[in-house]
Amino acid sequence: MTAASRVIAVTGGASGIGFAFSEALARAGHQVVIADLRGAVEAAERLSAQGLKAIGTQTDVVKPADVAGMVEQAVKAFGRLDVLVNNAGLFTTLTLKPFDQISDAEWMRVMEVNTLGPFVCAKAVVPEMRKNGFGRIVNIASTTPIKGTPNMLHYVASKGAVIAFTRSLARELGKDDITVNAIAPGFTLSDGVLDNDLHSKMGDVVRKTSRSLQRDQVPEDLVGALLFLASDGAGFITGQTIAVDGGSVFI
Ligand SMILES: NC(=O)c1ccc[n+]([C@@H]2O[C@H](COP(=O)([O-])OP(=O)(O)OC[C@H]3O[C@@H](n4cnc5c(N)ncnc54)[C@H](O)[C@@H]3O)[C@@H](O)[C@H]2O)c1
Repeated sequence: MTAASRVIAVTGGASGIGFAFSEALARAGHQVVIADLRGAVEAAERLSAQGLKAIGTQTDVVKPADVAGMVEQAVKAFGRLDVLVNNAGLFTTLTLKPFDQISDAEWMRVMEVNTLGPFVCAKAVVPEMRKNGFGRIVNIASTTPIKGTPNMLHYVASKGAVIAFTRSLARELGKDDITVNAIAPGFTLSDGVLDNDLHSKMGDVVRKTSRSLQRDQVPEDLVGALLFLASDGAGFITGQTIAVDGGSVFI
C-alpha cells in the first residue's frame, strides 16, 4: 500500500523545529504549507528548489484573517488541507527569570501566541477537514509542564494549556474523525536555542541531570513522531501527548 500524500500546514514552519518538520514532511511526499511570521516564502522556495512540494505564506497565527488566508492558499494550491501542525510558539526569544519578574504584558503575549494561536488555527482548519472527512491536528507542546521547569512560568503554563487543549479538542472532534494529538519535545537545539547562550547552558543541565539518552536533542529527532501522527496508521490515536525527549520524563 502506498502511503497517502497529505496537505499539511506547519505554523512557524520557516525555521528551527518547524523547518525540520516542513522539510521532512515534504521529503516524505506530502504537500507542505509553511505559515510563519517571517521567511515562509523563502523557506518554501528552498524546498521547491529540491523538487519538493511546498508553498509559503506570511501568517501571524493570532490573526484570524491571516490564518483564513493560509487555509485559502492551501486549498488553492493543493485542493484541500488535511493536517495542521501547531508549531509556532514563543520560547527561544524569552529570557529565563523568576516568576515575579515576568510582567503582565509578557505573560499575556506568551499566552497569546502559544495558546490563542493554536485555537485560531484549529477554528480555521476544522471546517475544511470536516468537508473532506479527514483531519489531523498535531500540537507542539513541551515536557516542561510535566517537569514543572522553573524560571519561565508563562511558557510552562502555556504548554500545559496546549496539552489540556489537545485532550479536550480530541473529545470534541472525534465524531468528525479528526484526531488531535500533541508532541512534547524535550530541550532541543533549534536555531533559536543555539542563538541564546542562557538557553544553550540549560540544555547541558537537562542532558546531564535527567535525560536517559546521553546526547543533545536536535530538531530531526522530532520528525519521526510527526510523520507517524500524520500517517494512516495513527488514525485511531487521539488526545495523546507523545514525549520525544530522550527519556527525560515518562508520561
Ligand atoms: N527548542 C526547544 O527546546 C523546544 C522544546 C519544547 C517545545 N518547543 C516548541 O517547539 C516549537 C518550535 O520551537 P523552536 O525552538 O523551533 O522555536 P523558534 O523560536 O526557533 O521558532 C519558532 C518559529 O515560530 C515562528 N513564530 C513565532 N511567533 C509566530 C506567530 N505569531 N505566527 C507565526 N509564526 C510565529 C517564528 O518566526 C519561528 O519561525 C515551539 O512551539 C516551542 O515552544 C521547543
